Amino acid sequence: MSQDNVAVTREDGTLEIRFDRPEKRNALSRAMYARVVAALEDADRDPAVRVVLLTGTGNYFTSGNDIGDFQQRAAGNDQRDGSPFLTALSSLAKPLIGAVNGPAIGVGTTMLAHCDLVVAARSARFVMPFTSLGLVPEAASSLLFPRLFGHQRASAMLLLGEPIDAETARDWGFVNEVVEDGALMDTARALAGRLAALPPQSVRLTKALIKNGKTDVPGRIAEELGLFRERLRSPEAAEAFAAFMEKRRPDFSAFR
Ligand code: COA
Repeated sequence: MSQDNVAVTREDGTLEIRFDRPEKRNALSRAMYARVVAALEDADRDPAVRVVLLTGTGNYFTSGNDIGDFQQRAAGNDQRDGSPFLTALSSLAKPLIGAVNGPAIGVGTTMLAHCDLVVAARSARFVMPFTSLGLVPEAASSLLFPRLFGHQRASAMLLLGEPIDAETARDWGFVNEVVEDGALMDTARALAGRLAALPPQSVRLTKALIKNGKTDVPGRIAEELGLFRERLRSPEAAEAFAAFMEKRRPDFSAFR
């Protein structure tokens, strides 16, 4: 059952976490982050969970952070930020699978860099519109994406906010497999089942070894978050958020 717009279910050794706010394209609210963090932490503690799978309800994976919440944080009405989510995500010991059922915006894309396997529906696309919101990248995407697909491709995505489709993401090594939309969950669950059937300690140790070369990730997450907090309070971001809420185009022409 969905609670705080996140549905958490367990089937055999797989814990499924589903963003469940389709009327807002699964935009992630503070309550949703808190619920996902609790589920990830429980997953690492609970020996019955072997694998965690992230997905979304409907035709969006997630439209990213709730922009109304960004405004609340910018106004100083809420000090909570994304760091508990990014810590729980990047430090999860058990394998994490992303099942991308549609567009993945902002943190929807950056969180996938912390998944061990990603399956995408053909309708998925990936976009990080941080600069057009007056923000900077997060989740160590400024470190992981240039490494994964090269400086220029990462710059097109992170500087220009250019989207890529599912096939491109697979060709760039960001997605393991692209399947027809209707086959997504069966494919992702089958992968999860294969991982869940393997010796769990061996799987966890192997994941830790694969991530061993990424010791600089927590430092980059913290560095990005420092800048991100400043940017949230910037006049550029205020104009971008107001434009989104007012359903108009932002005007950055007066900024120097
Ligand atoms: N935060 C808050 N609300 C959001 C949201 C977000 N990230 N994304 C979508 N919504 C809301 C819209 O405000 C709208 O609410 P309303 O019905 O009360 O007016 C509803 O979800 C549907 O969105 P809408 O824009 O009408 O749907 P669409 O299918 O035309 O477009 C998107 C979908 C995702 C392309 C568009 O909503 C969008 O660009 N969202 C913002 C994405 C973003 O910049 N995220 C932050 C990344 S850091």
